[in-house]
Amino acid sequence: MAVERTLSIIKPDAVKKNVAGQIISRFEQAGLRVVAIKKVHLTKEVAGEFYAEHKERPFFGELVGFMTSGACYPLVLEGENAILKNRELMGATNPNKAEAGTIRCDFAMPCADLSANAVHGSDSPASAAREIGFFFAGEELL
Ligand code: RTP
Ligand code: MG
Repeated sequence: MAVERTLSIIKPDAVKKNVAGQIISRFEQAGLRVVAIKKVHLTKEVAGEFYAEHKERPFFGELVGFMTSGACYPLVLEGENAILKNRELMGATNPNKAEAGTIRCDFAMPCADLSANAVHGSDSPASAAREIGFFFAGEELL
């Protein structure tokens, strides 16, 4: 196993619920370290660029609307197998189907709007590299 970095975003629903600290604790308890973190309020343009791969999906407008509805916290996590480990901690995309003990089950349930699922996580080494660079400059990652 290699030490990896991955991008997480604590989404506006979790920030509004004031559970960002509890979510970060989940990462730390699993052996992931916060390398960088910031607070941003995304514009429609920036959110649309971040989620460009979903542009043609029916939920794209709803997703961009949700991600611009309040502040969120992008953060870079580092650790052994960080990309997969973070995805396991997050749970299923639909919080109503996420396993107990996962972040999405514990902090985003019940969930009427599927965009409001507490966290984002990079899904591959290529997306992690793109997404980390999207939010953080090299000197912020030392
Ligand atoms: P993420 O990218 O946020 O880590 O989540 P994911 O891989 O589990 O889900 P993905 O398929 O990449 O979708 C990105 C985000 O779009 C919203 N979504 N809404 N209404 C819907 O059917 C729907 N499907 C997905 C979620 O916020 C999801 O995290
Ligand atoms: Mg995804």
